Amino acid sequence: MQAEINTKLVNEIKKRRTFAIISHPDAGKTTLTEKFLLFGGAIQTAGAVKSNKIKKHATSDFMDIERQRGISVATSVMSFEYKNTLINLLDTPGHKDFAEDTYRTLTAVDSVVLVIDCVKGVEEQTKRLMEVCRMRDTPVIVFVNKMDRDGKNPFDLLDEIEGELNIQLHPLSWPIGMGKDFKGVYNLYDKSLLLFNAHSKVTSEDLPVNDLNEEVVEQKIGEKFASQLREDVELLEGVYGSFQTEPYLAGKVAPVFFGSAINNFGVKELLETFIQIAPLPQPRPVTTRIVEPTENKFSGFVFKIHANLDPRHRDRIAFLRVCAGKFERNKYFHHVRLGKNVRFSNPYSFLARDKDIIESAYPGDVVGLFDTGNFKIGDTLTEGEDFYFTGIPSFSPEIFKEVINKDPMKTKQMEKGLLQLTDEGVAQLFTQFGGNKKIIGCVGELQFEVIQYRLLHEYSASVQLNSIAYYKACWITSKDPKKLQDFIKYKSSNIAEDKDGHLVYLAQSEWFLNTERTNNPDIEFHFTSEIHK
Ligand code: G4P
Repeated sequence: MQAEINTKLVNEIKKRRTFAIISHPDAGKTTLTEKFLLFGGAIQTAGAVKSNKIKKHATSDFMDIERQRGISVATSVMSFEYKNTLINLLDTPGHKDFAEDTYRTLTAVDSVVLVIDCVKGVEEQTKRLMEVCRMRDTPVIVFVNKMDRDGKNPFDLLDEIEGELNIQLHPLSWPIGMGKDFKGVYNLYDKSLLLFNAHSKVTSEDLPVNDLNEEVVEQKIGEKFASQLREDVELLEGVYGSFQTEPYLAGKVAPVFFGSAINNFGVKELLETFIQIAPLPQPRPVTTRIVEPTENKFSGFVFKIHANLDPRHRDRIAFLRVCAGKFERNKYFHHVRLGKNVRFSNPYSFLARDKDIIESAYPGDVVGLFDTGNFKIGDTLTEGEDFYFTGIPSFSPEIFKEVINKDPMKTKQMEKGLLQLTDEGVAQLFTQFGGNKKIIGCVGELQFEVIQYRLLHEYSASVQLNSIAYYKACWITSKDPKKLQDFIKYKSSNIAEDKDGHLVYLAQSEWFLNTERTNNPDIEFHFTSEIHK
């Protein structure tokens, strides 16, 4: 593809790791993020990271939530350096109503750290997030948190995670006791003991222990825990053997660490291992080929759009993941969907110590682009070549409402507003076949409030949203065009088109969906759709 490999570019790529921390709300994502940033020197004190967690009592006040989301723009991407590695940590909203935002952010990372609460084990959102990671074989490191609490037995927990998340695990550290008896962890990777002291503010030092039969083990953790540890480690070494990075990088095996984020315990080991094993910015499939990060020509895609809620400033920030080559300020790039050249005079970086306009960015980096409505999720920028990055999914919404225009004089504004809001990924828009009924689908109730409010305040369009009892929207395809046509004809009142013209079957209930699937074996029902295939 290219004559010479650009050494500077290769070095920049080698320096970078781009990842996200994911968890069910309350497992400790924010706390772990903060500890990482402390290690990276990006913040100086604990408590500096604003939780983007949406407070439970505020669920009815979406303005408050949007305000909190506004704060979270600044922390959407946190970049910091640790031991010569430039780490881009992409934040994901914890609230389940914004789950689609999280799923799309996962398309922009090369790996994830999954936090699990040792008391609660695998929770609902943990499963959903992992399903998204499995779709792309994203490498995962598991951090079992809150070991200072009485949680589940670690062996049971491993079984539960493997069973529920459908991934093989490989513990790299092992807890000694738990709850008020938590003594620390034994690092199976570099064979050392890390002792826990709940009241210590400093990270304790590793104590190398090559042979667990050494006397020092008893001295440090007592006889009972020493003999339990020897037994556990013998079993673990027998079962897991030595750790290999290839299956991890292929998304098949997830290394596991135990610790306590709030006590800053086990976090450094996690970070150290992360920078050693986590993948560099990876090659990515596009509609025509695979794009290598080392390509001299720049390319990247928009995975998230954040709108400004102030109606006087209808600007938005588009988050662009750089996938190949070098992004440069003021250079013209090719906006593939619009077929025109665009340039950016104020691209925004998220480097914590220097949140400012940047001159250039490299693969793995995320750039914030001020946008006045030119972007939608999934848009690709290149240096001239026509392709789209693939694998950016839309998920079947779970709540549906019909849009009723209350002011026919404002039809144009309403349509424009609906298009722009759905471009941002706030919701999905379906148009019913024949009837032209407009239906909005969302993952959570909150988005409907956001849409109604924004249509009125930004587009002067007043709408009523009437609930429709649909259960799921499934994208339908078939190898047999005739069968598909028949199905559409027969089920026309349940058929709609999404914004990109893809056919969708709107199922009233799980029962209806299952019945149609059984009765129409030639029709494929998909719960996700890719923006570009
Ligand atoms: P999230 O972003 O995943 O939603 O979780 P977050 O870090 O906000 O942590 C959720 C709660 O769990 C917080 O308590 C936090 O202090 C606590 N936590 C995090 N790590 C540990 C740990 O290792 N051990 C224990 N025992 N607790 C931990 P909170 O009371 O909800 O909030 P706060 O008042 O402490 O901020």
